[in-house]
Amino acid sequence: MSELKVLISRKQIADRVIEMGAEISRDFSGQSIMFVGVLKGAAIFLSDLARNVQLDSTFDFIGVSSYGNRPSPDHELNVGWDSTGEVKLTKDVDQSMKDRNIVLVEDILDTGLTLTYLKKLFLSHEPKAFRIATLLDKPSRRKLPIHADYVGFSIPDEFVVGYGLDHAERYRNLPDICVVPREN
Ligand code: IMP
Ligand code: MG
Repeated sequence: MSELKVLISRKQIADRVIEMGAEISRDFSGQSIMFVGVLKGAAIFLSDLARNVQLDSTFDFIGVSSYGNRPSPDHELNVGWDSTGEVKLTKDVDQSMKDRNIVLVEDILDTGLTLTYLKKLFLSHEPKAFRIATLLDKPSRRKLPIHADYVGFSIPDEFVVGYGLDHAERYRNLPDICVVPREN
């Protein structure tokens, strides 16, 4: 693997996550929140974000995977990943979402397939409110018209790792968000 280049530093991430936490605290002032993180990429972001929200809160996690043939890590990096658009649940939440204020926490909004599926699923459980918080957004890759309510950083179409994001399961523990250079 060639050299990784820092795109967003740990300091920039920390500052932005404080701002996002303040925004959520304001929007839900006096109420409680159920954070639901998408495994595994959002685990680190959720733990930092939730600690910056000064409200009564609970955590939960959901697991998803895409149908279709997942490309090799090299193909995913260099060409991208065009799934069939079908997403399946590999782990459901443990708590009921009915009449709760749900903040769905995701690492990155890319084509929008995952969050479109999850939004529909969550709304069918009749929450009191439903919001999406994503650390990163790649708007140029969008295939479905979904947007997040809280966005950390909008980034160009680069493959990034670190702060929870992986390439073939590696690099999730990097404190900064880094670009993996494409090979051509
Ligand atoms: P979407 O369904 O296309 O929006 O895909 C979102 C998922 O794709 C994320 O939860 C990530 O797991 C993965 N993904 C998209 N872009 C990147 C990236 O640049 N680095 C690592 N994972 C990514
Ligand atoms: Mg991933």
